[in-house]
Amino acid sequence: MRVAVACDHGGFPLKAMVLEIIRQGGDTALDLGTNSAEAVDYPDFAEKVGHALQNGTADRGILICGSGVGACIAANKMKGILAGVCHDTYSAHQAVEHDNINVLCLGARIIGPELAREIVIAYLGAVFSNEERHIKRLAKVKKLEDELRKS
Ligand code: RB5
Repeated sequence: MRVAVACDHGGFPLKAMVLEIIRQGGDTALDLGTNSAEAVDYPDFAEKVGHALQNGTADRGILICGSGVGACIAANKMKGILAGVCHDTYSAHQAVEHDNINVLCLGARIIGPELAREIVIAYLGAVFSNEERHIKRLAKVKKLEDELRKS
């Protein structure tokens, strides 16, 4: 699996470890920045991960900002992106199995590196359940996305 990873300055302290976890698990990590603790704007980095998913250069994404929230909001504005903040392992796998998230958002000011490690492993190891009830609900989410694009 190819995993696009990006962060802002708030998420920068966790990025190297996230890249390492992905690679240790045998997946390909694409580092889309930022590359220092200098202040940047999280929507610019959410956009990079969103585009990597939209253009097929990545299969999943991980965004890291201070809280995870800003990056999640920005990513969810992009067509086809289903992003979720998950700061526990249950959410990290259930969000893929039920909600089919393709972007995991983490807050480097909220969780420490060891919890982040377990969350990333849970996220990458999960697959969408393909159960009828979840497919139906996701179709409704998609309808909201399509309607919003018209309004
Ligand atoms: C940056 O200070 C911070 O606002 C950002 O990383 C993020 O937490 C926003 O949700």
